[in-house]
Amino acid sequence: MRVTFTVNGRRQEADDVWEGESLLYVLRERMGLPGSKNACEQGECGSCTVRLDGVPVCSCLVAAGQVEGREVVTVEGLAGDNGELSTVQQAFVDAGAVQCGFCTPGLLVAADELLERCPQPSDADIREALSGNLCRCTGYEKILDAVRLAAARTEQAV
Ligand code: FES
Ligand code: FES
Repeated sequence: MRVTFTVNGRRQEADDVWEGESLLYVLRERMGLPGSKNACEQGECGSCTVRLDGVPVCSCLVAAGQVEGREVVTVEGLAGDNGELSTVQQAFVDAGAVQCGFCTPGLLVAADELLERCPQPSDADIREALSGNLCRCTGYEKILDAVRLAAARTEQAV
């Protein structure tokens, strides 16, 4: 089947998609968007997180056919057109919240959505928003620092 949807603001088509194909596979293997990572492929780790019509989802659990006519934003869609890092991306760099980086794209997408919905989140809000994203490297404290930093910078910019 053919699937037509919007990815990071651009209309995209994927042909010959088979029924069991995941959105994660389509993004990585057909569209050349490797930012969403494939770790568990079982909805457990969050490294494949993207936004589907604004809502964070594990793209490994979404069938490609389900995204027909819908809007997907991946981590590649967070940076500006000129490659400038978004506030949350820069905060992850500055707070040292990236080690191996495998979990980072999913965390960035989840954190970006949180800050859009809740610009000044409490620590409980941050923990809840990121609860589906596993990291084996950082111990999470620097990730929490990064989201706090992004929130503070967003507030200053307003
Ligand atoms: S790869 Fe999708 S949740 Fe782990
Ligand atoms: S930085 Fe390595 S898994 Fe999170």
